Amino acid sequence: MGKIILEKTGLSPLGVVIRLVLVVIAAEVFIHLGMNVVLESMPGSKASDSLWAVAAVMALILIKVPALYLLVFLPLQDQQIALAQHNTDQQRALVLLRQEDALRLERARQELENREHMIQIERLSALGTMVGGVAHEINNPLMGVMNYVEHARDKASDASSKEVLNKALHEIDRIKKIVSNMLIFVRPDAGQQERCDLPPTVNKTVDLLQSELTKNAVQVRIDLPPDLPPIQCSAGSLQQVLVNLLLNARDAMAGQTQQRITISARLEGSQVVLSVCDNGPGIPDEIREKIFDPFFTTKPVGKGTGLGLSVSRHLMQEVGGSIGTDNLPESGCCFRLTFSPK
Ligand SMILES: Nc1ncnc2c1ncn2[C@@H]1O[C@H](COP(=O)(O)OP(=O)(O)OP(=O)(O)O)[C@@H](O)[C@H]1O
Ligand SMILES: [Mg+2]
Repeated sequence: MGKIILEKTGLSPLGVVIRLVLVVIAAEVFIHLGMNVVLESMPGSKASDSLWAVAAVMALILIKVPALYLLVFLPLQDQQIALAQHNTDQQRALVLLRQEDALRLERARQELENREHMIQIERLSALGTMVGGVAHEINNPLMGVMNYVEHARDKASDASSKEVLNKALHEIDRIKKIVSNMLIFVRPDAGQQERCDLPPTVNKTVDLLQSELTKNAVQVRIDLPPDLPPIQCSAGSLQQVLVNLLLNARDAMAGQTQQRITISARLEGSQVVLSVCDNGPGIPDEIREKIFDPFFTTKPVGKGTGLGLSVSRHLMQEVGGSIGTDNLPESGCCFRLTFSPK
């Protein structure tokens, strides 16, 4: 057993505390060596036991607190920092993995989409070749049938036969129109390198339809600025698009007292926008999305094929342009053709 005897020696309070610190360290060492330690005041010492007890506790606190801090809290704090760092690293790795997964998934999706797109293009081109062939095959006998029916109509003596044959000719004409429109879709791109001036093509087309429009009391106003730049287009295609738009406008306004079509153009940046507007009823919202679809028509059976606008859109795309439509606030609608400059 180790015995440490405490003695009041007349030291200052700080001296007493320092001495006690040393005493406690000595006691700790004894305890670590497996010895029992007894702290005793020297017999006859004037120091009261309670004063020594307070001093001993203070000395203990002075030793134990920093020791605790150095031996327990600091390593614990280091461990916590390391753990947090580890967690952050793991989270970062997880995020990276997720990003890589998402990227791989997106790449796979795009590859699939591309492959499907290629298959679709191949299918369409095969279909186009077939449709082109069929259209050609239909066209030749159709011309023959038309000639025979025309001949029969001219030779018919009674009015009812003439009427029936005229109806047959009307239907043949419809087939001819559908076939030639289908051929437009499947022919190789034509005319996109051409350069044309808008005013002569517009004037020529309106002249061509003048009698048809006058017959239906449709007034046409042409308002084209004189300084329009030449555009990238094919005069033949532009003429066909304009015919489709003018005939659509005529049909839409049929029966109205005032029937007006305005053809105007303006420059928008480097592009030329040609507008064909009418004062008809406009396009109802519920069919706006469908009007450019092939075979979509609201006209009675036997009147419209529903190919006019889809062919027009195709022709505009061929020359790098576009076609769109807007209803007018008052009434009627405008079809806008946008061309690139040449
Ligand atoms: N100016 C217009 N005003 C109102 N509706 C229109 C106008 N132009 C087109 N439409 C609508 O768009 C539909 C599709 O037009 P599209 O020219 O493609 O075919 P269609 O005129 O019906 O038939 P086709 O052109 O073969 O005679 C029309 O049936 C009509 O409902
Ligand atoms: Mg039409």
